[in-house]
Amino acid sequence: MYHFAPDPDQPKADLYRELAASAAALVAGERDSVANMANVAALVWQFVPRLNWAGFYRVIGDELVLGPFQGAAACIRIPFGQGVCGTAAASGETQLVADVHAFPGHIACDAASASELVVPVKREGAVVAVIDLDSPDLARFDAEDARGIELLAEAIATAI
Ligand code: SME
Repeated sequence: MYHFAPDPDQPKADLYRELAASAAALVAGERDSVANMANVAALVWQFVPRLNWAGFYRVIGDELVLGPFQGAAACIRIPFGQGVCGTAAASGETQLVADVHAFPGHIACDAASASELVVPVKREGAVVAVIDLDSPDLARFDAEDARGIELLAEAIATAI
């Protein structure tokens, strides 16, 4: 059994450092990428407050395919360049969206989502997946959240 007990009152930077370290420890020594993504999605769900969806889309060919996640059932395939996730995958850049309804081409998988953070996971410079966080609150994510999830992406990149 694994037991992680993040302190919700600690500064955000500390919370994300703890998240990345916990994720690195959890995936260390395990080669199965589905198991690792599933555990990392569960950790994000536990550590990061005010989310309605958290998980992975994997790069397969020229599209993204749904991976392990927490939250409601979601869109399965997203073409490169489409929606927030497809934009992150095509550009290799983190997407921080304060209001998803103002994002051209946003793909509404869950009507509850109001803001979104999508971070590419890269191996040797190539995007292999994205980590997608959705919140029911407008402008839920800031630059510190983006940096925190980027730290997480770096910590688990070789294990998914
Ligand atoms: N909103 C995303 C689609 C994935 S769901 O949020 C889980 C997008 O626009 O790419």
